[in-house]
Amino acid sequence: MILVTGATGTVGGAVLARLSSDGVAATALTRRPAAARLPPGTRVVAGDLGAPESLPRALAGIDSVFLMSPGHCKAFHDANLVDAAAEAGVRRIVQLSSAGVAEAADSGEDNALARWHRDAEDALRSSGLEWTILRPGEFMSNALAWAESIRADGTAATPAPDLVQAPVDPADIAAVAVEALREPGHAGKTYALSGPEQLSAADQIAVLGAVLGRGVEVRPISLAQHRSAMARRHPEETVAGVLEALEQALARPGNVRAECVPTVPGLLGRPAATFRQWAVRHASAFA
Ligand SMILES: NC(=O)c1ccc[n+]([C@@H]2O[C@H](COP(=O)([O-])OP(=O)(O)OC[C@H]3O[C@@H](n4cnc5c(N)ncnc54)[C@H](OP(=O)(O)O)[C@@H]3O)[C@@H](O)[C@H]2O)c1
Repeated sequence: MILVTGATGTVGGAVLARLSSDGVAATALTRRPAAARLPPGTRVVAGDLGAPESLPRALAGIDSVFLMSPGHCKAFHDANLVDAAAEAGVRRIVQLSSAGVAEAADSGEDNALARWHRDAEDALRSSGLEWTILRPGEFMSNALAWAESIRADGTAATPAPDLVQAPVDPADIAAVAVEALREPGHAGKTYALSGPEQLSAADQIAVLGAVLGRGVEVRPISLAQHRSAMARRHPEETVAGVLEALEQALARPGNVRAECVPTVPGLLGRPAATFRQWAVRHASAFA
């Protein structure tokens, strides 16, 4: 049996949907089982990665785990799950990490975002369990933060309109996770994941406008304004770590934060989804 953490979120939800469509039984972990909307037939367990005493029950009978936890508590939360999994006899964990770990190492700069993810990876690597680590860069789904303003007045605010990334479709991250959960040959591997093209925020907004059939205007904002907007959705420490990494990227010459890597096609035998394909699938959120 596979346990999916973050099952009500973007990537964990896509992992669960994919397992369900493949006919593979899975258990979803959530802090609020009654509120969770999950694929039919999914077994649900209550659990909080910040409350280690809740985890043994969730891990009973589990062979493999998709492990994600968001934000500044990641290292602590992932280590709680890894410790409980080792105790429960789990064999394999596939962990959602971040390209931020390699970005910090390559640039010689460090930041809180990279540290949370690096410490979480270290907890898994030293566990003695079979591990696979996924390091995606920017998610295409981050564009959903523009949905409300695009619907309201056709604008999309960004503090970094020209910073080039290689956004990846969370459904592709999930497809790689399911491959690593179900198939042999992925133990001890760390996979960098990107989409198939380099795009700035302004490029993504132009694609959204084209897909929606209406002009969407880029609205440049300061980092302070971006910090306030993020603080409405995330804890302050989490926002600080994300913005520390962004500020370091913006200070580097060249305006290119990420390159494309061929991991998704290499592992899945098909191209990674483009931002246009993602936008078509999610157009109703912006209309
Ligand atoms: N966004 C990006 O561009 C990007 C880039 C690289 C890496 N990442 C990584 O991806 C993560 C975000 O993934 P996502 O977009 O799938 O997240 P998400 O949609 O925000 O979902 C968060 C999930 O975390 C669960 N959760 C939160 N606190 C928990 C706790 N204490 N115990 C158990 N579950 C808890 C929530 O479950 P319940 O509320 O149901 O309990 C929810 O399912 C980031 O934090 C980062 O590590 C993101």
